[in-house]
Amino acid sequence: MRSSTSSMLLVVRGAERYGGDMRRRAARILSRLRWWTVGLGSLSVSLSSAVLSGCRARREAPPPTPVEQALAEFTGAYPAEASPKGTVRTFEITADRAELPLIDGHMLQVWAYNGQVPGPTLRVRLGETLRVRFTNRLPQETTIHWHGVRVPNPMDGVPYATQPPVQPGDTFVYEFTPKDAGTFWFHPHVRSSEQVERGLYGALVVEDAEPPPYTQDVVWVIDDWLLDDAGQIFPAFNTRHDLAHDGRWGNFVTVNGKTNEILRAHPGERIRLRLLNSSNGRVVMPDFTGVDARLIAVDGMYLREPNRAAGFELAPGNRIDLDLSFTQSLGEPIRVFDRFYPKRPNHLADIVVEGEPVKTPAFASPARAHVPVWAGALAIAEKHAFKLDARGGGPFGIEWTIVVCALEGHHREHHAGLTLERGRFYRLRFVNESARLHPIHLHGMFFRLLARDGLRMEEPFFRDTVLIHSRESIDIGVVPVDAGSWMMHCHILEHAEAGMMTMIDVTEGGAAPHAH
Ligand code: C2O
Ligand code: CU
Repeated sequence: MRSSTSSMLLVVRGAERYGGDMRRRAARILSRLRWWTVGLGSLSVSLSSAVLSGCRARREAPPPTPVEQALAEFTGAYPAEASPKGTVRTFEITADRAELPLIDGHMLQVWAYNGQVPGPTLRVRLGETLRVRFTNRLPQETTIHWHGVRVPNPMDGVPYATQPPVQPGDTFVYEFTPKDAGTFWFHPHVRSSEQVERGLYGALVVEDAEPPPYTQDVVWVIDDWLLDDAGQIFPAFNTRHDLAHDGRWGNFVTVNGKTNEILRAHPGERIRLRLLNSSNGRVVMPDFTGVDARLIAVDGMYLREPNRAAGFELAPGNRIDLDLSFTQSLGEPIRVFDRFYPKRPNHLADIVVEGEPVKTPAFASPARAHVPVWAGALAIAEKHAFKLDARGGGPFGIEWTIVVCALEGHHREHHAGLTLERGRFYRLRFVNESARLHPIHLHGMFFRLLARDGLRMEEPFFRDTVLIHSRESIDIGVVPVDAGSWMMHCHILEHAEAGMMTMIDVTEGGAAPHAH
């Protein structure tokens, strides 16, 4: 504990010297330190057990190398293969133009899946197979990407890399059996800065094989809209302004398409609330002060144990699942705010607890996943460092680059990606040389954040998307278990559109994946 306190002091002292910007940065580092310190307890336990087992092992065999240790810790984290039960759930999804009462209820011209924004929530159980017959009635080509779901590579919805784009009038059938239960989502991967902004997104909920008995299971899709004076979607996309900043940030923030969403509960209820940020660029930090809220999953995957819900930076693409308990009626509705910029909070939605009390049987939190600590992983040589930066040029005047390379329109002919082998541990580094935000998303794998600016982070969960702040560097640890060509990109959709995309090829390799 002492070391964390002294580094906090250092951070604060530095902030006084450098004024406003540094102070904001220091506040952010402090909020991140909370995650780090939360992890310290379990960290010291596993460190000492690692030391003990190391001592014992030394008598018989050489101690494991850091890489062997990292792989051993990964064992049992998540399965290599799906376990299909033989049940196929069929869905029809059509993308088309629509006019819907959205935001504050006025008619908005949107693009929608099945005439709804958000699109329909697809719910399946773990072990069930989805068969989605998708029809494109848009004036543009498109695809569907299943964000966070470990699908077979040809089902990943990345144009050219995994499938030809679906032309207007055409149909494509996506079929896969999710390997993980959790909160996922789907959206186009063609011109996504326009298509997602116009309303094309929906949640995919993969329930546990035996779902815990929550009284309600609710999805909140958070979006951000930029409307023009006529109250319609501002029709210029990928503007220089958006590209020079953190993408397109709108003037309306909605939950499930509305500015007045209400979650209604009776006293005694225990609710699973799944939050998803489908904005093009906006990062939100939901504040549930006044609610007994525990964080149980991030990016679909359960935590090692329930954790505090406050202070999570929900960047575009991220999901969090909260376990909400309501013991008594509340006189006033609880107003939930986004406080990513503390001085400019945005109202998200309200929670109203009233009516007849109900009885909910007590049950253990489902957050008890095997998540590696990877305490020694920073000592492992990095496989690759991705530099993130911008330069002038390209179709929009500004290009966003990964290792001095801008990938336009998903064409990768002149592009050397990164090749990894299935079943190995890798430490990857990202160095943000720009002043902007970059929520980096990896398809086809989960990773664990190891460090920010060299400071070890002990997040007790995996992610598929991590926010990298201005001028920050991060380290992640990953064991790919799914072979294929997987996209990696910034989930600020304007940055991605202007080049901030690359591919990671995961080959079969020699090693068997270390998973159960
Ligand atoms: Cu949610 Cu490649 O994206
Ligand atoms: Cu970015």
